Amino acid sequence: AARSPDNLRCPIVVIMGHVDTGKTKLLDKIRKTNVQEGEAGGITQQIGATFFEKKTLEAQTAKLNQTEQFDIKIPGMLVIDTPGHESFSNLRSRGSSLCDIAILVVDLMHGLEQQTIESLNMLRQKKVPFVVALNKVDRCYAWKTCKDTPIRDALKEQEAGTISEFRNRALDAKVQLQEQGVNSNLYWEMGDDDWSNSDFIPLVPTSAITGEGVQDVLMLLCQMAQRKIWKHIMWCANLEATVLEVKAIDGLGMTVDVLVVNGYLREGDKAVFCTLDGPIITEIRGLLTPPPSREMRVKSDYLHHKEVKGALGVKVIGNGLEKVMAGTPVMVVGPNDEEEDIKAEVMSD
Ligand code: GTP
Ligand code: MG
Ligand code: NA
Repeated sequence: AARSPDNLRCPIVVIMGHVDTGKTKLLDKIRKTNVQEGEAGGITQQIGATFFEKKTLEAQTAKLNQTEQFDIKIPGMLVIDTPGHESFSNLRSRGSSLCDIAILVVDLMHGLEQQTIESLNMLRQKKVPFVVALNKVDRCYAWKTCKDTPIRDALKEQEAGTISEFRNRALDAKVQLQEQGVNSNLYWEMGDDDWSNSDFIPLVPTSAITGEGVQDVLMLLCQMAQRKIWKHIMWCANLEATVLEVKAIDGLGMTVDVLVVNGYLREGDKAVFCTLDGPIITEIRGLLTPPPSREMRVKSDYLHHKEVKGALGVKVIGNGLEKVMAGTPVMVVGPNDEEEDIKAEVMSD
């Protein structure tokens, strides 16, 4: 089908922020999984990828949508998790380069921290539109849990003292953002002028544990994709793909996790990868993905595909993948292409 606003691909959403602000937990909440508790020391050390189907986005915004009446047109969402630990700024940089939109997660109890500011600067430098999640709102004194509820409904249930603590902390975050040159506001208090100013950042209080505000984050991301960056995510058949990770998997040998942004990858394709020793051409022997709403970096019952369509994270099986470099592009030799031309092109990026 043609390029049109009715034919959008899935946006790629990166989740960034300081260590332990709750990035992985927020994804666990949406996935209904427990990836974070399986991490060594509770620290994320790799880039992750999770695909959410449109029906999942619809189900998890249903309560909020009773008032918002918003039509989800994107076919799903691919979310890239990144580590917040200071030693992984290369992975944060890669994540911010790969994405269309982002969630910057701030711990409401701590405000802006060092890697929050680093992430913020990466997103601004790459002109990535983003929302700020003010996470751990459930830590406000005497917070009454309103499981998986839109944030404004949850705030209505709180006592005056809790609201006052919440207001003070949200204001602190806003002032700290202002010190970084970023104008922001609680998203439901933004005026029309703020929405039309592309540098103005919506703030969304969330709890990754009890789920308040998670509906709101998902809704804002869908709206951002459909209203702000729809031209940028029009589906297109030309392959655009990048290597996320290279790793050995029991029973599969060396595999390459590829982010297919646009276009198709097919079993049997002659794929061109960059390695430490120069370009290689290898036949794709297998294309595996985790089931929807499952993290790619966690071993699961992979689904086998003959063909995948971007945007999607996919595990590629083939020979000679040992020295493939993360962060490099992937190309395919088409019927009318010269192998040498494609090899030169893949290395030139
Ligand atoms: P890195 O990937 O290592 O940078 O951390 P992260 O940002 O992914 O944070 P993670 O999901 O590992 O959560 C860190 C800790 O905060 C865990 O102990 C979580 O249980 C806790 N946590 C995360 N979100 C919330 C929240 O909304 N409320 C509360 N009370 N605790 C939370
Ligand atoms: Mg994490
Ligand atoms: Na952590």
